[in-house]
Amino acid sequence: METQVLKITDIEKDGALLDEAAALLREGQLVAIPTETVYGLAADALNPKAAAAIYQAKGRPSDNPLIVHVSSLEEIPPLVKQVPPQLKQLAEAFWPGPMTVVMEKSPLIPSTTSGGLETVAVRMPAHPIARALIQRSGRSLAAPSANLSGLPSPTTAQHCVEDLTGRVAAIVDGGPCQVGVESTVLTLCTQPPKILRPGAVTLEMLRKVLPDIQLDEGVFEHLSDDRKVASPGMKYKHYAPKARVILVRGTLEQFQEFLRHQREEYGVLCFEEDVPALNARCVTYGKEQDPASQAHALFDALRRLDKEGFSLVYARITGEEGVGQAVYNRLLRAAAFDEIQL
Ligand code: TXA
Ligand code: MG
Repeated sequence: METQVLKITDIEKDGALLDEAAALLREGQLVAIPTETVYGLAADALNPKAAAAIYQAKGRPSDNPLIVHVSSLEEIPPLVKQVPPQLKQLAEAFWPGPMTVVMEKSPLIPSTTSGGLETVAVRMPAHPIARALIQRSGRSLAAPSANLSGLPSPTTAQHCVEDLTGRVAAIVDGGPCQVGVESTVLTLCTQPPKILRPGAVTLEMLRKVLPDIQLDEGVFEHLSDDRKVASPGMKYKHYAPKARVILVRGTLEQFQEFLRHQREEYGVLCFEEDVPALNARCVTYGKEQDPASQAHALFDALRRLDKEGFSLVYARITGEEGVGQAVYNRLLRAAAFDEIQL
């Protein structure tokens, strides 16, 4: 399959390109699109064949459900069994934006889209190109992250080109994603509601609307394979660079000292300001005191670890404030939960 790259520099002037992408989506084809979190691999959410093609293109296990993206609240009632009472307030506070809400699905949602579950995850993205494509196609769009299954999520069109060339009809290039980690996923199907995946909408922010919301235990703990997971995505190995990654928690001085004692060859994943102090091959992910910069840089950094050809990587971590919790959640998976405290 030939993959077109459609570069949008101006959402008004490039209307013809948006219409081209929207037409492909209406036909049931696959189009990688930018969102404010990561790039998504989009297709018509209500077309079972289109949804099935997403799993095929990504190599995604068929029981891992897709997020359905909408551009207005009016699109939601037909997609769900009933609109939960808490949704209105959540939407007012955090939509459009990086929050996904799991609700009971209506029969309209094909089981391919919901991964065989009786629930559906819905998100209203903030990115103007994503919103324009939902509107212009007249479809709600199923879109998982636009990476090959098991690789880090794509935060630039170039990442999508690397993973999906020949597998999708088009890639819409809207520049780098602002947030850099995937949306916060929460479920309203449990009592109390639970966060299944942390993102830029944090636990503290959500508590203001849903005071009893809790973090699911799978967020920071390794669940054994036979445990029933709340979100199928939790059980799959994720964001895994080829290198063995070990998280190392400590100050820069402790980290320097730790590295001095390593005998095997290694690469380092660290903060920008650490580099001058470390006599090592470094890939950086943002600034220590700025979790948003870490989120923005993380997935590109994980991809660069592979390009550097490292087989062992020590990743420096410190505290987890705000979106830093989401960064830590992704790093834990990249490291297969291997963490050393100095
Ligand atoms: O920011 C994002 O959420 C991006 C952009 C493209 O919107 N999308 C994304 O999709 O990250 P994906 O498929 O890579 O991750 C969706 C996660 C998976 O872990 C999946 O298991 C979970 O959400 N999920 C989806 N539907 C669910 C459901 N009905 N119940 C529980 N978990 C669900
Ligand atoms: Mg994903």
